[in-house]
Amino acid sequence: MSDRSNPPVDPGETGTVSFQVIDRVAWVKFNRPEKRNCMSPKLNRQMMRVLDELEYSDEVGVLVLTGEGTAWSAGMDLKEYFRDTEVLGLPGTRAAQREAYGWWRRLRWYHKPTIAMVNGWCFGGGYGPLFACDLAFAADEAQFGLSEINWGILPGGGATKVVSELLSFRRAMYHTLMGENIDGRKAAEWGLVNESVPLEKLRARVEEVAKVLLTKNPVALKAAKDAVRRVGDMTYDNAEDYLIRAQEAANFFDNDGRKEGIRQFIDEKSYKPGLGAYDKDKQSLSAKK
Ligand code: COA
Repeated sequence: MSDRSNPPVDPGETGTVSFQVIDRVAWVKFNRPEKRNCMSPKLNRQMMRVLDELEYSDEVGVLVLTGEGTAWSAGMDLKEYFRDTEVLGLPGTRAAQREAYGWWRRLRWYHKPTIAMVNGWCFGGGYGPLFACDLAFAADEAQFGLSEINWGILPGGGATKVVSELLSFRRAMYHTLMGENIDGRKAAEWGLVNESVPLEKLRARVEEVAKVLLTKNPVALKAAKDAVRRVGDMTYDNAEDYLIRAQEAANFFDNDGRKEGIRQFIDEKSYKPGLGAYDKDKQSLSAKK
């Protein structure tokens, strides 16, 4: 078992995010529990550093994003992200936006599969990283809300796009205009997250999912997750073509994996793709044929 923690932190900036790698799963935490993990420019910069460090590490196969304390993230920091940067004028505002949107974009196209583990409050700007994660699991007790309307702005930073992508039109509109929260169960029913479970079972469920992802071919996982995000706004024909090209590009990085998958099913009869994944540790020279 491998267990690696980040080094002691400078509380000013580096302490805003913590992470631990355990058995090839990186548990990354928003780490401002006293501020309900709201996203300040410092946190946004640090999160990008952490994502950088973990993305191509051989020690990491799956990344989980969660929050320390009672919040996942209470959205953007109203003081440090909005008020303090606004006084710097447009350059200050744009710089803060670039930092926030930058790590969310990085996460949307991350090299490893990603899971949002929503342990508590999730507001506004938090919908950016929520959507950026490939899968999302919430505690029944978590609370989700587009609170922007309650303090007088529209849900920017992609939040409106996220609800219009994930929810029906009527739900997206209600959620946006009413400023009412929904709990984890309703978030699952609405499709904002995959599943909701009681808080005390949340980590175990996420671990279970992460373990399954670790058994799959990593090149196929990256190609497949990008494909799901890409094909949404393509015509059928464009998607068909994109998927051919994407698979051919994946073959360039891992030509042996799929051959081994076929071999174990057709020749060795050791597994059935309809019922589970091939054993990628058994990959042998025979797959190179
Ligand atoms: N921006 C700045 N500060 C925030 C914050 C945010 N988004 N969310 C919480 N905080 C701060 C509070 O000001 C408070 O600071 P203080 O201890 O210096 O007074 C501290 O975090 C704890 O917050 P508190 O409101 O006391 O916690 P709570 O558990 O009672 O309530 C929330 C939690 C999330 C319901 C509440 O903090 C809240 O409504 N936050 C704002 C949510 C929001 O609208 N986010 C913006 C989306 S873009």
